[in-house]
Amino acid sequence: MSYTFPKSAALFARAQRSIAGGVNSGIRKMEVPVPLYFDHGKGSRLFDVDGNEYIDFQIGQGAILYGHAPTGMADAIATQAHKGTHWAAQSELEIDVAERLQKMIPGAERVRFNNSATEVVLSALRLARAHTGRPMILKFEGHYHGWGDEGLVGYAPPPDQWGTEDDPTRLHPSKGVIPEVLSTFVVARWNDPAHLRQRVAEHHDQIAAIIFEPVLCNTGCMPPVAGMLETIRELCDENGIVMIADETITGFRFGAGCAQSYYGFTPDLTILGKAIGGGVPFAALVGKEKFFAKIMSGEVVHAGTLNANPLCLSAAKWCLDEVISLGDKHPASMIALGEQLKAGLSKLAAQHNIPLQPQGPGLVFHATMLKPGAPTGPITNYRDYALRQDAPRWAHLRRCLLEEGVRAIERGLWFISLAHTQADIDEALQRAALAFARHAADWKAI
Ligand SMILES: Cc1ncc(COP(=O)(O)O)c(C=O)c1O
Repeated sequence: MSYTFPKSAALFARAQRSIAGGVNSGIRKMEVPVPLYFDHGKGSRLFDVDGNEYIDFQIGQGAILYGHAPTGMADAIATQAHKGTHWAAQSELEIDVAERLQKMIPGAERVRFNNSATEVVLSALRLARAHTGRPMILKFEGHYHGWGDEGLVGYAPPPDQWGTEDDPTRLHPSKGVIPEVLSTFVVARWNDPAHLRQRVAEHHDQIAAIIFEPVLCNTGCMPPVAGMLETIRELCDENGIVMIADETITGFRFGAGCAQSYYGFTPDLTILGKAIGGGVPFAALVGKEKFFAKIMSGEVVHAGTLNANPLCLSAAKWCLDEVISLGDKHPASMIALGEQLKAGLSKLAAQHNIPLQPQGPGLVFHATMLKPGAPTGPITNYRDYALRQDAPRWAHLRRCLLEEGVRAIERGLWFISLAHTQADIDEALQRAALAFARHAADWKAI
């Protein structure tokens, strides 16, 4: 029996009379048949207001690495709440968290905190410009760095506007952006080291920073091809460019040392968000001391009323201790579970003749629905993804999965958390079998 959502539908109708568009982040409107309203969560499970239980692979867009409502974290936050929620001043907690980051991440010589990764991106790019005295930022097609004017340049242009292979567009998906911002960007295609060399050569003495997601998780799920990260490091070193790894998604998911330890590279600055706070609004910039010099001297402004808020710090301290306590077991066990889920979904897709191609390093992966006639095989860049992906068909399968109690991210991404177990994967695949069968039958009928 598949789920229905009458209470969520009623709440969404009510919300639209007060909240602009009914939601507080644009992407949440993508959830079909209706944006869901949740009552509570525990571990890998979420419960909506209609009493439906989900095995959750959306996990707060990746923030809930430790599962929903872990007792230790709830206790830490509650203890702090009784002592005070906000001082706009210092606490020992902020040093505790900063010192943990120093121990966990090679190259984290200095740290600053904010409340969202979007803000940290702003800081990192400002610092890079001030450090180098140069105006431009190089970023990659399909990479997402928050919703600010700078973070979304060239994010997901439609094929008829994406520019040439050599010179990808700087199109921004939002209206109202400061027009001059776009001209301070150079956009490159991901996973093409030779093309990157060419882009840097064209603008080398103007580029302050190269910013990137080490594993592109915001468009499909695309690990770096051999030589990609090495090429970024080499070009930054040769040209005095600041290398900025945006580990908002990969941070702590790939182990205590983040994707940079997992893949073996050392950026100059790193953006951390999501899992660092386990679901509270907390984010950090970490990196080598010399790149923080302009903040330390006061020449670069970095501020925020709620920065290093003690409630968030108490959660972050608990989260980092969790990761540290797992030692070398993390991320191997998450990868193993994710690979099983990927394999199970592939098997179901083959059984039902559904062109679904899961791709990614297991602990996070993207289930790409291929358009009729699109070639199979690894997808390595944004253009390849945009041309091959069948978004309407995925939306239909995603809805069938949701109605059977399996919740993936609206655009096709799946996250494994530390709370997922073997039993969760087995049950998710049993539920997915019903969803795939229904999708195969209904989709044919459309
Ligand atoms: C790679 C990356 N950078 C930055 C951000 C912005 O994070 P926030 O939504 O916390 O501002 C995100 C959010 O999804 C992200 O995935």
